[in-house]
Amino acid sequence: MEQQEEQRRLMLEALDERPPEALLHEPLDYIFADHFRQRMLCNLLDAMVREGARDAELSRHILVFMRRDFGLHILDEELDLFPRLLERARPEDGMNEVVAELCAEHSSDKIDARDLCRALEKPESLSRRWKRLFARFAANERRHLIVENAIVMPLARLRLKPDDLAEIGRHMAERRGIVLASVPQ
Ligand SMILES: [Fe+2]
Ligand SMILES: [Fe+2]
Repeated sequence: MEQQEEQRRLMLEALDERPPEALLHEPLDYIFADHFRQRMLCNLLDAMVREGARDAELSRHILVFMRRDFGLHILDEELDLFPRLLERARPEDGMNEVVAELCAEHSSDKIDARDLCRALEKPESLSRRWKRLFARFAANERRHLIVENAIVMPLARLRLKPDDLAEIGRHMAERRGIVLASVPQ
């Protein structure tokens, strides 16, 4: 039991904490760190489904993450990472299909994400249907993360150039209202 509590505390901590600002100089690492936080989100949603109870404290933390960081991550990918990667990828990389599929998933998950936020806001809502919604959102998100981490990120590391990364990092910082200190030469 104590171990479970500790695990939950660590997962919440990871969910709450944005990656350090300095990591915006390594935008792929920042995105990767956000993927880890999203995995924690999936674990926490699954834990609630398993326990069969809407935990108010967990709900609050998840809601803050969804409202503050989840949408920003999708913009990082759709406005910066994906377009730049499509520019640099070679035809044999097959990136067009992969990116099109990921963007389609972003839009189809949007509806579930909105319902999830509503359900987290109002713990009495959705009576029994919340379990199906939480479990579906977590399962879809996990599949999405596997493709991004296993296919997109390694290729981005291979194909993007230092200038691409610097620009992506700058845009991600702007999106978060952060002024990025220049990297010492
Ligand atoms: Fe992602
Ligand atoms: Fe994504």
